[in-house]
Amino acid sequence: MGEIARVYLSCHTPRLCNHEAAFGGKLAHPDFQPLREGLIAQGRDVAQAGLDVVVLNSCHLISTFPTVADGTPRHRGILTAQEAPELIRGVEYDFPGDYELASAIIERARAAGHLTTLANDPHYPLDYGTVMPMVCYLDRAQRIPVVPISVCLMSDLEECFRWGEQIAAAVRELDRRAAFVASGAVSHKLVRAPERWPAPEDQELDHRFARLLADGEYAKLRAWLPEFAEAAEAETGGRHLAMMLGVIMGSGGRFSATIHAYGPSSGSGNYVITLARAA
Ligand SMILES: [Fe+2]
Repeated sequence: MGEIARVYLSCHTPRLCNHEAAFGGKLAHPDFQPLREGLIAQGRDVAQAGLDVVVLNSCHLISTFPTVADGTPRHRGILTAQEAPELIRGVEYDFPGDYELASAIIERARAAGHLTTLANDPHYPLDYGTVMPMVCYLDRAQRIPVVPISVCLMSDLEECFRWGEQIAAAVRELDRRAAFVASGAVSHKLVRAPERWPAPEDQELDHRFARLLADGEYAKLRAWLPEFAEAAEAETGGRHLAMMLGVIMGSGGRFSATIHAYGPSSGSGNYVITLARAA
């Protein structure tokens, strides 16, 4: 039987992607260093986790009506990020997909009454929230199959949570050893100053979120999520966090947490956290 072996809360701070090209090997600001080191540590964990597949929900893979699961068997392209062409420029990606798992997720989500679409198209473009963490840090060798899932703007937090449950169920059914990646910030009150931290009260909200997650207080976190998302203006309304919680609770397991890093990006708060399934 398959299982969710890892859950990664990750980030996609554009300055951490092509920093060698953009800044001559230097980070734009030393405050970005912990996030960078956290992503590197998360990549080390991915390398030794023995994963068959990664299911990734990115805050920048946006759909409006249905939630899209990308089952394209091979994801191949060159990414220049629309909103940060100077920071994420010409990033080549070429990694496998998992059509069977994407189809199973879609079937389950449909049966549960969700509006959903399966992409199976080599021209379906991937976003920087998917490509940046996967290709620059989590799996630089690009060996592990990835199923990208969109954030649907018409879905509420409950629907995203239910989606997460369907992902966990499909993984179990198909006998995959899988990881789920939530690629997005926690608090997200953006300002035009890359190195700016969130306000102290928003940092406190972020830390409370991380503590509940690390302590395995999943039900409490689920109950608090709508309030957190509103108060902290979580990225995409916290939809990626709701899906992550659905995966965790739908998998029925306990996880031990490693909090790698917390850091800023233009006023947003970003955590890099690894949850490893407890034996
Ligand atoms: Fe973002």
